[in-house]
Amino acid sequence: MERNVLFVVNGPNLNLLGRREPSVYGTTTLDEIDGNCRAWGAERGLEVRCFQSNHEGDLVDWVQRGGDEADGIVLNGAAYSHTSVALRDAVAAVSVPVIEVHLSNTAAREAFRHESHLTAVAAGLVMGFGASGYILALQGLKTLLEGK
Ligand code: DQA
Repeated sequence: MERNVLFVVNGPNLNLLGRREPSVYGTTTLDEIDGNCRAWGAERGLEVRCFQSNHEGDLVDWVQRGGDEADGIVLNGAAYSHTSVALRDAVAAVSVPVIEVHLSNTAAREAFRHESHLTAVAAGLVMGFGASGYILALQGLKTLLEGK
């Protein structure tokens, strides 16, 4: 850990968490998730910076920026995980580890969600744990960065 900065990047429709298909994604809002991530970081002397966009290119920009400014990235690419070669290439291009997160267990859902372009280039994958998956991913990232 050199910069003591971690990025949390969220993709399309995750701004609607809390009221978006709560039976699938739960009732925790993105603001609450971001707050929990920042608090988790603050307790450990780490700055967690959170981003969300509905636009593919913004996600590419933040992954690239994370490569320059952060020690690692937690990324929920949402639907773009299944469709975006550009986002996959951004993850492959940065030299910091990226942990892929999904609130739901995408392998147990529709067939079009079974493949993620990100998984093969991510350092790890957390899915199916709802909002708490972000903290699990941050913890995994920290463990990885500390070489444990
Ligand atoms: C998601 C799963 C994706 O398939 C979906 O398009 C999302 C959210 C999740 O967190 O479970 O928007 O990434």
